[in-house]
Order: sequence, then structure tokens, then C-alpha cells
Amino acid sequence: ASMTEEAIKSNIRTIRDWPKPGINFRDVTTLFENADCFRAVIKSLVGWARERDLNCLAGIDARGFVLAGALAYELGLPLVLVRKKGKLPAETLSENYTLEYGQATIEVHNTDTIRGQRVLVIDDLLATGGTALAAIRLMRRLGAERVDFAAIINLSELPGQQLLHEDGIHTFALCNFNESE
Ligand code: PRP
Repeated sequence: ASMTEEAIKSNIRTIRDWPKPGINFRDVTTLFENADCFRAVIKSLVGWARERDLNCLAGIDARGFVLAGALAYELGLPLVLVRKKGKLPAETLSENYTLEYGQATIEVHNTDTIRGQRVLVIDDLLATGGTALAAIRLMRRLGAERVDFAAIINLSELPGQQLLHEDGIHTFALCNFNESE
């Protein structure tokens, strides 16, 4: 069954001041632990994805993998993994980005799978957009024809959604959080 935004949000735990003071960490592990809620989230993402005429998926390390694997199975599409630096064994492309709390690098294998494809990049959460935009740059460098982005959570007071919109990225999120929540 489908779930309301409020029902989805009620399954996401907030950890105040983690990993540093001033950050309210939105923890989807509690959502993953609720089987009905996880299935409802996947069903909703699948419904949106079917409308987008996709032919490839890319999951972002680490919680994006949980979603992307389920979507790849359900949609019958190839899945490319975007990983934190130093984890992928073959030749990689990498992109640096600024995170809500620090600097980071993500990498993808130098694969032919993305070329000319309509790709959906998947993660658990969109905040500043640094991670998503770095993953999108990787998809473009690999020859993606079009890139969309989907997540469970959008942090509505941070600029990620607007930055993706300005970059022409079709974006979907199942729920929004304000900093005050
Ligand atoms: C979180 C989240 C996204 C990213 C979003 O991951 O899972 O990947 O931050 O933030 P942004 O929009 O500001 O880039 P995190 O970097 O904490 O890594 P993890 O998956 O290793 O926990």
C-alpha cells in the first residue's frame, strides 16, 4: 500500500548534533527496519521511475545502494555503483565535492553501461546537493544522455533540490524535512 509523507517521515529517526553539533542526522536505518514501510518506499520510487522511461540506474554509497538494488530488481535495469574513494577495483573516474560536513571524493568504474542512456541516480537523502551533483557529473562524463535523481528525503532548507533543478535534473523525493523538525 502507498504511504503518506507523514507516515514515511515517522519511520525516519533524527539524531541531533550528529556527526557534529548543529547537524540533525536523518537516519533511514529505522525505515529499512520496517518491512512494510521499506516496501511502500520502493513501490513509490518504482512508480515514479516507470514514468521516466529509464534504461539504467546508479546507486550512491552507502544507503543509496539499498534502494538502488531493489529498484534494479523491480525495473529489470542495469545498476552502476557510485562509491566512496578507494573502494572500486578497476579503472575509475572520480569527482570531488563539498559535503554538509567536510570534503569527499566519489568514484565510478569506467564503464560503457551509461553511454547514451537515460540514467536515474538514487540516494537516501538530498541536502546540499554536493554528492548528487558529483554523481551526476560522473554520469555525464560516462556519456549519459539524460540524468534524473531520486531520494527518500529532501532537506528543504538546503539548496540541493534547487541546484539540481537549475542543472536540468528531474528530481523526486518522497518527503521533506525542515531543520526545526
Ligand atoms: C549522506 C547522504 C547523501 C549525502 C547527501 O551521505 O546519504 O549521500 O550525505 O548530502 P549532500 O546533498 O549535502 O551531498 P554521507 O556523505 O553522510 O555518507 P555515508 O553514506 O558514508 O554515510
